[in-house]
Amino acid sequence: MIVVFGSLNLDLVTPVERLPGAGETVLGPGYALHPGGKGANQALAARRAGAPVVLVGAVGRDAFAELAVELLAADGVDLTRLARVAAPTGAAFIAVDAQGQNQIVVAAGANAEASADALAAMGLGEGDLLLLQREVPEEQCLSAAKAMRAAGGRVILNLAPAGVPVPELLGLTDILIANEHEAALLAQGLGWAEIEPDAIAQRLDAERGIACIVTLGAEGAVGWHGGVRRGLEAPRVAVVDTVAAGDSFVGAFAAALQAGFGFSGALQRGLAAGSLACTVAGAQPSVPRREAIEALVG
Ligand code: ADP
Ligand code: NA
Repeated sequence: MIVVFGSLNLDLVTPVERLPGAGETVLGPGYALHPGGKGANQALAARRAGAPVVLVGAVGRDAFAELAVELLAADGVDLTRLARVAAPTGAAFIAVDAQGQNQIVVAAGANAEASADALAAMGLGEGDLLLLQREVPEEQCLSAAKAMRAAGGRVILNLAPAGVPVPELLGLTDILIANEHEAALLAQGLGWAEIEPDAIAQRLDAERGIACIVTLGAEGAVGWHGGVRRGLEAPRVAVVDTVAAGDSFVGAFAAALQAGFGFSGALQRGLAAGSLACTVAGAQPSVPRREAIEALVG
């Protein structure tokens, strides 16, 4: 199985004529509620790509919790390890102006209380994969990684949102996935002169033994694994919006790897999923399914 230890949010999206300045109030005509959070999005992506998925994390004891898990439940993500805590369900407050510029405030809420304790009782084994992002407390990510490694499973770390993980977490990571910006920030944090995605991925692989993929938007992705480079283009698609492209990539990559496709085959499927997510508006509704991914891979 794939264990995703990560965040669940509810996105509240308000259209405004222009974004407010400090101390200012602007009026919007209404708002929409969308389920999100990188943990939830990637769990859904791995599940729709065909993997058995357990999501470990925390939501509040509020009405937002039901909305945050609605699509996950519909697709059969195992939610039995999700804790309900006193803090409110995580939320993102998003204003979008007439030019499409946005302003986002994320309140961690229950995500700040996500605990990796559940992994101890899950009967993890060699074939299992842990998928991590950076929206829940890092010391809990570290505990989760230790539990998965102790069971003989592999750890995938998606470096989003950008930041430099503690050395111990990096040391427990088998595969690291980052976009260009996140990779550059990591290199800087490690004191490396490299800024090119290719060079960063190669150095992580060669010096740290961490297979690394850097996604390159419409250009596709470059990966290094066991001293071998794999650069692949993203399938060309009609782009509606790129929301959830990165999460779809990561979830589908993990699902393919767990299904036994190997690094290269998984990379190909991640790219197909990322591209497909760009053809449909929004986040979770745009996450593609296995049939569509396989059809695009050909
Ligand atoms: P993030 O969304 O996390 O910043 P990227 O922009 O690198 O990450 O996109 C992740 C993946 O989504 C890419 O590797 C690619 O598969 C797909 N993708 C993103 N933007 C486009 C695009 N404009 N056209 C086609 N595929 C895209
Ligand atoms: Na989308």
